[in-house]
Amino acid sequence: MNQMTTNQKLHAAATSPQGTGTGRPLGGALSIRNVSKIYDPEGVNVCAVNDCSMEIVAGEVCMIVGPSGCGKTTLLNAIAGFHSITHGEILLDNQLLCGPGKPKASQGADRMVVFQNGALFPWRTLAENVAYGPIVQKKMTKAEAHEKAYHMLAEAGLGDFGDKYPGEVSSGMSRRAEIVRALINEPKVLLLDEPYRAMDALTKSIMHESLLETYDRTKVTIFFITHDLEEAIFLGDKVHIVTTRPCSLKKTVDVTIPRPRTYESLSSEAFRTLMEEVNEAVHEEAVKAFQAGERELA
Ligand SMILES: Nc1ncnc2c1ncn2[C@@H]1O[C@H](COP(=O)(O)OP(=O)(O)OP(=O)(O)O)[C@@H](O)[C@H]1O
Ligand SMILES: [Mg+2]
Repeated sequence: MNQMTTNQKLHAAATSPQGTGTGRPLGGALSIRNVSKIYDPEGVNVCAVNDCSMEIVAGEVCMIVGPSGCGKTTLLNAIAGFHSITHGEILLDNQLLCGPGKPKASQGADRMVVFQNGALFPWRTLAENVAYGPIVQKKMTKAEAHEKAYHMLAEAGLGDFGDKYPGEVSSGMSRRAEIVRALINEPKVLLLDEPYRAMDALTKSIMHESLLETYDRTKVTIFFITHDLEEAIFLGDKVHIVTTRPCSLKKTVDVTIPRPRTYESLSSEAFRTLMEEVNEAVHEEAVKAFQAGERELA
């Protein structure tokens, strides 16, 4: 369920009311402190997040895993400023995004979102999609934005595809273009909600390499939701495992595998040990979610 219409999503993903100027911004530390979110559709309270706290260091790749429907997207949407929180506070670089007296964060170019289902404008080329945000925010002229868009697309291995429409390229290419479109806004934090969910293993592995290259270039803070435990460990500095609904932090696993990581890392002893640790914690929560579902059906 989501409160935003498709058009609102397309616009929010492409642009933002606040700019951050030129040059990569410093910072990107996120503090999520005792956050709760209760939805109230037609008077029926749904507690999606409860007393959830996480500290995310600037420049860290932070992976969030937890059972389906536990409240991960709800937390991400609160950070992005798409909806309010009920209790607690969220800070970016010690500045209050939302909290007491300000239940909803404003949307800003300092936090860019890449959605689960893709959100490129289908009637614009990849370069036009990437250039759209800085143009509508009047951060760049049309010519500057297009030049930067082509340059950034080339850095992401999409140099020959800037003039193509989303419908003319693969889903993997579209997804890479979306990340480029987020990064042209020079965010402090990139918020990714299962961006590679529907992809086959080979395409995913290309996406992972591309994202890690991007991360090495930008060192942007990444808040990344996934159900894929291998992906979580391969990409992350930390894996935050969250509980079944309502979402709160269950356990944090530090990924000590050195960077740069290659696919050989996947067969290392260290990787296997981390997989076991994460899998055990996630499995425990998945069982609880399943049992709760059974109770509701009974
Ligand atoms: N706008 C809404 N109004 C009421 N309830 C909602 C709304 N959005 C989400 N929920 C409920 O909040 C809970 C958490 O939803 P959320 O989408 O955050 O979970 P999730 O962990 O992202 O799930 P998934 O892994 O399937 O993506 C679910 O029970 C969902 O039905
Ligand atoms: Mg979700």
